[in-house]
Amino acid sequence: MAIVGIVPAAGSGERLGTDGPKAFAACAGRPLLEWSLDVLETVCDRVVVAVPAGYEHGADRVRGAASRSASVREALRAAPEATVAVVHDAARPLVSRVLVQRCLDMLAAGGCDAAVAASPMSDTVKEAGNDGTVVRTLPRAGLWSVQTPQVFDAAALHRALGVDDAVLAAATDDSSLVEAAGGVVRLVEAPPENLKVTSTVDLALAEALLGDRELRAAARG
Ligand code: CTP
Ligand code: MG
Repeated sequence: MAIVGIVPAAGSGERLGTDGPKAFAACAGRPLLEWSLDVLETVCDRVVVAVPAGYEHGADRVRGAASRSASVREALRAAPEATVAVVHDAARPLVSRVLVQRCLDMLAAGGCDAAVAASPMSDTVKEAGNDGTVVRTLPRAGLWSVQTPQVFDAAALHRALGVDDAVLAAATDDSSLVEAAGGVVRLVEAPPENLKVTSTVDLALAEALLGDRELRAAARG
């Protein structure tokens, strides 16, 4: 069995607005991407990173593509030996080894093609038209917001990603592509700190939480 980490890190980070791509922006003293790599490298046999053009230095760095899932497809292509793929966004630096392992255990228990980190919705969710008029309020029970890590049977992910570029571009995560291909996806509840760095507010919060985590690790020795 080969567990391969797949890290999409090829986005531009438009909403964060820093100079250069988000995955390489400084976060608590080092490039954002490195926090996730530290964790994935402890559980994966190999980690392949999809990076922006011009950042393909070193082994296991492949050029990403126009959309997030197309970047995942490029990285997965570079790891044909993978039997299990651990897909994790560079934009979630607070991922923990425990969370990745819980997803791996869920997949290994059988009966599903993917095990993905998620949180139960805490806000009320409404559907609205373009003018802001509410169409309906969705019952919140049973609604989850889905994150990464997402752990896949690699063959199932490979099949799910074998669709047109337009379908990949419309997907907001990879597990929805596995669902569309008829696969079974299970949720693993993630801790609240597994946030995604999208805006400067998220970056400030991530830096505070990572700083705190480092202090606690240092205190433990
Ligand atoms: N990503 C990627 N290839 C793309 C687009 C996104 O590998 N063509 C990666 C990003 O680097 C990020 C993850 O997918 O780690 C989640 O995307 P997002 O948070 O949207 O990051 P960006 O696309 O970089 O940010 P923005 O949408 O604000 O430009
Ligand atoms: Mg994006």
